[in-house]
Amino acid sequence: MAVREDARPLNLALTEEHEMMLTAVRDFAQREIAPVAAEYDESGEFPLETVRMMGEMGLMGIEVPEKYGGAGMDTLAHVLTMIEIAKADASHSTILSVNNSLYCNGILWFGTEAQKREWISPVASGEEVGAYSLTEPMSGSDAGNMASRAVLNGAGSHYVINGRKSWVTSAPFADRIVLFTMTAAEEKHRGITCFLIDTSQPGFSRGKTEPKLGIRASATSEIIFDNYLCPVDNVLGGVGQGFKIAMTVLDAGRIGIAAQALGIAEAAYEAALVYAREREAFGAPIGSYQMIQQKIADMKTRIEAGRALIYQTIIAKERALATGGRYTTEASMAKLFCSEAAAYVTDEALQIHGGMGYSKEMPLERYYRDARITRIYEGTSEIQRMVIARNELGLR
Ligand code: CAA
Repeated sequence: MAVREDARPLNLALTEEHEMMLTAVRDFAQREIAPVAAEYDESGEFPLETVRMMGEMGLMGIEVPEKYGGAGMDTLAHVLTMIEIAKADASHSTILSVNNSLYCNGILWFGTEAQKREWISPVASGEEVGAYSLTEPMSGSDAGNMASRAVLNGAGSHYVINGRKSWVTSAPFADRIVLFTMTAAEEKHRGITCFLIDTSQPGFSRGKTEPKLGIRASATSEIIFDNYLCPVDNVLGGVGQGFKIAMTVLDAGRIGIAAQALGIAEAAYEAALVYAREREAFGAPIGSYQMIQQKIADMKTRIEAGRALIYQTIIAKERALATGGRYTTEASMAKLFCSEAAAYVTDEALQIHGGMGYSKEMPLERYYRDARITRIYEGTSEIQRMVIARNELGLR
């Protein structure tokens, strides 16, 4: 990974710029996104209009330098944004996360100057949608074991790509995709190469959009390559470097998912606080009873513990960007803990609301459904535990 010249100081105090961004994002999320979240959840429609607005605000390439069309801010700004957008609607935060963490980061860290100029700007500015494609029908957690293939043509000018990729977030609307596929299957993960894909070219098509339990407005589909011709200039980071790029980018992505989980949990927790104060039973607000108080205390503690892990990971990431090191364990711990905290908090918040929590008239059941994916995508909880334990034990 290229060492960043402008690595930020290791200080998590909010600057004036962070404060301004936080206020603007919070206002926008509550004004434009929260009121339409239930409607998009119900219809499963992709929220193109509000996604474009996020682009206009500079939220689709937060850490991308301004010269490549981004906002030129840091990981803390990205995390603060993810939390606020996820509080309003998890689907929007998924779209934002893929654009920022999984699409832009890879090109920023591994791309040539020409690739950065051509491939980042339209996506970081929000004019186009970006996606990241690693998973296949028969390789999810075992990401290195893929069946799709890219073969160099006789002239040496193009790779011919064939195969099927699955669970590609934003694929139904993506203009550009970072794709991981095999160029030398006998070399296993070292035979994977990353390609920059223009989805308007022949040989590219989309499969059916997945009907999902949660984050229903974030469109997910298969993508199919049928003799797709990819110019050699669109190889990212060198032939055979794909697996390392995929993993490096996922480390950053997992901070985003941890922040998303925290945002969903905060939204559920805040709703539960209001309800515990207002709802009366047996002649008193339910918040006056110790059984509810225990839930409130445990929810709040898990949220703040999750935030502390995310902040520790931000520091580790900024340090790694300056030194060329890694923050894999920290990112996996933050993602693991926050996604499990979100499961706990959304479940307890729904329980505090009783029957009303189960009703679609309130957002609790949506928070509960939306939180579920955070334990699955960008590496399941089981994979995060495996990564943490292997690193701790010094195993491979
Ligand atoms: N950063 C840089 N390099 C890394 C790395 C990291 N975080 N993790 C591993 N590597 C390198 C290793 O150093 C090793 O390098 P060498 O070739 O030099 O030896 C190589 O990658 C292979 O590593 P492992 O032996 O550990 O690989 P593995 O196959 O045993 O396991 C894994 C790797 C951690 C389980 C990995 O496959 C993994 O993370 N799986 C989960 C995949 C995942 O998260 N998928 C989600 C896709 S995105 C998504 O969810 C959809 C969406 O759009 C939101």
